[in-house]
Amino acid sequence: MLRVAVLVSGGGTNLQAIIDAIKAGTVKNTELAVVISNNEGAYALARAKANGIDAACVSPGAYGTREEFHQALMEKLLEYEPDLIVLAGYLVKIPPEMVRAYPGRIINIHPSLIPSFCGVGYYGLQVHEAALARGVKVTGATVHYVDEGTDTGPIILQKAVEVEPGDTPELLQRRVMEQAEWVILPQAIHMLACKKEAMGQL
Ligand code: GRF
Repeated sequence: MLRVAVLVSGGGTNLQAIIDAIKAGTVKNTELAVVISNNEGAYALARAKANGIDAACVSPGAYGTREEFHQALMEKLLEYEPDLIVLAGYLVKIPPEMVRAYPGRIINIHPSLIPSFCGVGYYGLQVHEAALARGVKVTGATVHYVDEGTDTGPIILQKAVEVEPGDTPELLQRRVMEQAEWVILPQAIHMLACKKEAMGQL
């Protein structure tokens, strides 16, 4: 069984897609051990509680220094001993010590086809505003491993989405979420869960 910790900051639609895929059986051998948010008011925490998943808030504002926040986040993760950490709309930079503690075991969903429209400052609507400003005809989403950079780790899955005439950033964001993010993030988790299962049988 793949034990997963999901880190969130906002509405949690990617988290919901994972929950729904586990219920539907399209993501196998996976259990969501905990959902952790930096934001007490994140609706993603309500989604976790509504589905019987432990939910915790570890907020930078509750600690005197960034280092103390990082320590608290690492301690919270240690409580659950996850095999995989999934960043699902998590807007806080992952500290290097966390990347080193979980090598090859942290993945992120980014709302573009990396290496386009990614890196520092490219998150949420800014990504889609940049895609529309550049005039791309195709965009999409990427699931990638997290390394010490920003959106720079090895790519796991990508899915393309058409940009349509008259698209606003909001319309495009919604289509990328519906047609790409909510498909490839559960798919990536399923792939890693099956890999763990297969390794366990070696
Ligand atoms: C999404 O646009 C996702 O691509 C990005 O963060 C946003 C939050 O989505 N990573 P949600 O919290 O999963 O609804």
